[in-house]
Amino acid sequence: MCGIVGIVGREPVAERLVDALRRLEYRGYDSAGVATIDSGVLARRRAEGKLFNLEKKLAEDPLPGTIGIAHTRWATHGVPNETNAHPHFVDGVAVVHNGIIENFSELKEELIGEGVTFETQTDTEVVGQLIARSLRNGMGRREAMQAMLKQVTGAYALAVIFADDPSTIMAARSGPPLAIGHGRGEMYLGSDAIALAPFTNEITYLVDGDWAILGRDGAFIFDHDGNRVERPRQISQSAAYMVDKGNHRHFMEKEIYEQPEVISHALAQYVDLGDHTVDTSICGAIDFASLRSLAISACGTAYLSGLIGKYWFERYARLPVEIDVASEFRYREIPLAKDQAALFISQSGETADTLASLRYCQEVGLKIGAVVNVKESTIARESDAIFPILAGPEIGVASTKAFTCQLTVLASLAIAAGKLRGTIAPDEERQLVKSLTEMPRLMSSVLNAVESQIEALARELSRYQDVLYLGRGTSYPLALEGALKLKEISYIHAEGYAAGELKHGPIALIDENMPVIVIAPFDRFFEKTISNMQEVAARGGKIIFITDEKGAAASKLPTMATITLPHVAEIVAPMVYSLPIQLLAYHTAVFMGTDVDQPRNLAKSVTVE
Ligand code: F6R
Repeated sequence: MCGIVGIVGREPVAERLVDALRRLEYRGYDSAGVATIDSGVLARRRAEGKLFNLEKKLAEDPLPGTIGIAHTRWATHGVPNETNAHPHFVDGVAVVHNGIIENFSELKEELIGEGVTFETQTDTEVVGQLIARSLRNGMGRREAMQAMLKQVTGAYALAVIFADDPSTIMAARSGPPLAIGHGRGEMYLGSDAIALAPFTNEITYLVDGDWAILGRDGAFIFDHDGNRVERPRQISQSAAYMVDKGNHRHFMEKEIYEQPEVISHALAQYVDLGDHTVDTSICGAIDFASLRSLAISACGTAYLSGLIGKYWFERYARLPVEIDVASEFRYREIPLAKDQAALFISQSGETADTLASLRYCQEVGLKIGAVVNVKESTIARESDAIFPILAGPEIGVASTKAFTCQLTVLASLAIAAGKLRGTIAPDEERQLVKSLTEMPRLMSSVLNAVESQIEALARELSRYQDVLYLGRGTSYPLALEGALKLKEISYIHAEGYAAGELKHGPIALIDENMPVIVIAPFDRFFEKTISNMQEVAARGGKIIFITDEKGAAASKLPTMATITLPHVAEIVAPMVYSLPIQLLAYHTAVFMGTDVDQPRNLAKSVTVE
């Protein structure tokens, strides 16, 4: 979602601000802008669409000034045009905002009633108008900022500069993250540490309710009541990551190919690669042995990894799992008790609905575990036990390596939970862990083996308008993930179903215009899935069969294509079968010419409801 950067510097800032915005592009946006102060005058350049439009404007008409704020906007209130792009100016006040001001309509009406006119359709403009009104009424800048913060409700990360103060940025956080970067004689502000990595690795995260005043030599942080507070300064690891595409055409492709390596790193943290055991201390503050049940909640792809995790916790640890998408979980008023624990899965660690579900469980007094990629994120900070997935920064909006790393961590935790609950014998533990340790090698060989076949198949798939994915057992959530991946980056309509549900409705859709992708490793569900495949074939459906050598040999049905993988243990099938699914969506989207890394309308970090 929206990205914010700011610099209080000693040298011109406009170009550096746009460079920093580039590192936030992965969050998704549809317009961008930058504002600076030069000789007591605020000036801005804004542009609809991608950053190169903004850069073109800056090249034609440069912005001088050693202080500035900049923004990538993911439209919520008001279309993504130049007028609605941030920064917004009101009487010498410039504002950028990530989030939603929930009471903006009432505030806008009140201000309009006082004769104020609004230039934009955004909720953000009320922030500038409220500050400007307080300044007109004689308040100082700091008081005006505080007064505004007391009036607005909702989710926000804000950065504000004032034409008559060229050495200060004010910032505030309630919900979406905001990080202060410490430089030498310069200070920085950013939506995350990745944006600030070229400038500094010394980061202070604002806590919810904090606001701050940044000058060239440091920052003062205040809590909601205006009391000075100290927040820890941390050394961020983000600078260590090269946020570039390497030899790949897209971040998504790079991230698909990184999976064997990042999964090896993750595994090394969770299992003993030598003696094929799990150390139950990985469970941290979650006492799996005494739990009556586990509640899992997450959004999108992270939710689908949780759904596969449910199969594992129930099978290997005999632990009942309650799972729901976070946007439903948070409002479902689920009766929860202290002998349950809750697990939240989030790549970004900032997803608004997941965080709200976490806080709901916290209020009930449940122990909270977080399976996250960003260890400094809000979800990680508010949890009792953090289970990092160690995928490294995921820049492509469509989640790939985070998904398989989440699965790797969930599989390890399910085995550890089984060990603690006495539901897994030592032999089974060793067998399961051995299978996990073989996974990175298997994934590398699959990536090499299937790419050219999938590229050719993608060309064919791109001619269709609807695609169905089917699977059973853990291949069912994978069918949902396959459909999600295809629709989000190629814009082809796709649906995932449990293969057994076919007869209860979706079979009506089957004809020669509906390719059906059947995910069926040769496992205990294989025969049943083949029966469903038979039903598709009998109705002229075109089948893309993703299976293994044994499955390919066992089925005699005609297919549009059969993608044959090595036969793998059941516990690693979801990770290994993710690869053809991701590659098929990727190549279809490339073939169709969509913006693979930043698909339309999508945001990487969804910090609003
Ligand atoms: C899909 C995708 C999204 C995210 C979802 C949750 O490819 O990436 O569905 O999985 O928005 O995001 P996190 O994991 O950051 O909470």
